[in-house]
Amino acid sequence: MLKIDIHTHILPERWPDLRERFGYGGFVSLEHHKPCCARMMVDDKFFREIEDNCWSPARRIKDCDETGVHVQVLSTVPVMFNYWAKPQDTLYLSTILNDHIADIVREYPQRFIGLGTLPMQAPKLAVSELERCVSELGLAGVQIGSHINDWNLDQPELFEVFEAAASLGAAVFVHPWDMMGKDRMPKYWLPWLVGMPAETSLAICSIIFGGVLERLPNLRIGFAHGGGAFPFTIGRVQHGFDVRPDLCAVDNKISPRDYLGKFFVDSLVHDADALRFLVNQMGDNRVALGSDYPFPLGETRPGTLIESISEFPSSTKDRLLAGTALEFLGVNRHQFEIKG
Ligand code: CO
Repeated sequence: MLKIDIHTHILPERWPDLRERFGYGGFVSLEHHKPCCARMMVDDKFFREIEDNCWSPARRIKDCDETGVHVQVLSTVPVMFNYWAKPQDTLYLSTILNDHIADIVREYPQRFIGLGTLPMQAPKLAVSELERCVSELGLAGVQIGSHINDWNLDQPELFEVFEAAASLGAAVFVHPWDMMGKDRMPKYWLPWLVGMPAETSLAICSIIFGGVLERLPNLRIGFAHGGGAFPFTIGRVQHGFDVRPDLCAVDNKISPRDYLGKFFVDSLVHDADALRFLVNQMGDNRVALGSDYPFPLGETRPGTLIESISEFPSSTKDRLLAGTALEFLGVNRHQFEIKG
């Protein structure tokens, strides 16, 4: 069965010294301190240790062959969004990251699909880089953050980016980053365990309540980590909408529940009951395999959870492992026909 992983992250092996180039800090750099390994540093502060599976297409293909993944969808690591920087500087780094992903997709078109990154804090720049990503680089869409600095995704300034994505047929994958309340979560990896699901729910609620999908019914938008806290709290969100329309329905009169099935999520929930619930809520045509490769909170062998659920018929498994991804990305299955 064809297997497409819509949620994987990649970095170039090297990029220019941004602090030196722009004259201010806060950017990520890589310290290649031993073979096959590097430290991601933010200025002088250690962020994360990574291996060559983070940058080497050959290593990734080897891993994919071992775990039965045919295609990875490549996107940058969210710490590289850099929405806080000067827009031109974010654009500069975005073009490096986007060109890098496009080069890999061009070299291995059977194994990789690309998503770009945009200077979302400057929507006009973001739209022009989005157009370049799709028209010149052949990327399937973009990955954006769950918020853009102080803006949630219903911010009117952002609408033109969503509008451009819808008209270009570009997929938009929303990934949590810069987690709310992180200052209150210094221990236990809580920004990742508590903050991320909340961030993603905030992003989905902002898109729904802000009427983005109402105005752009053709927008193909997807959310990481099974939509975070949103699917499990849909009852609460709907009830809130029903009892306090004066607070909830100010920009969009349509019920939140009506949007289930109108956006995509990945399958990364690490629990069989949660995945059953997610597929029931969203439909199997809106849930797509995502593993968060190569990071430790991901699914080590992508697709294991989907395959473990015996009551899913093979048609559902095919949707979850590949069909939904193809639809989300606007890509034709023939391109990835399994040979031999
Ligand atoms: Co991720």
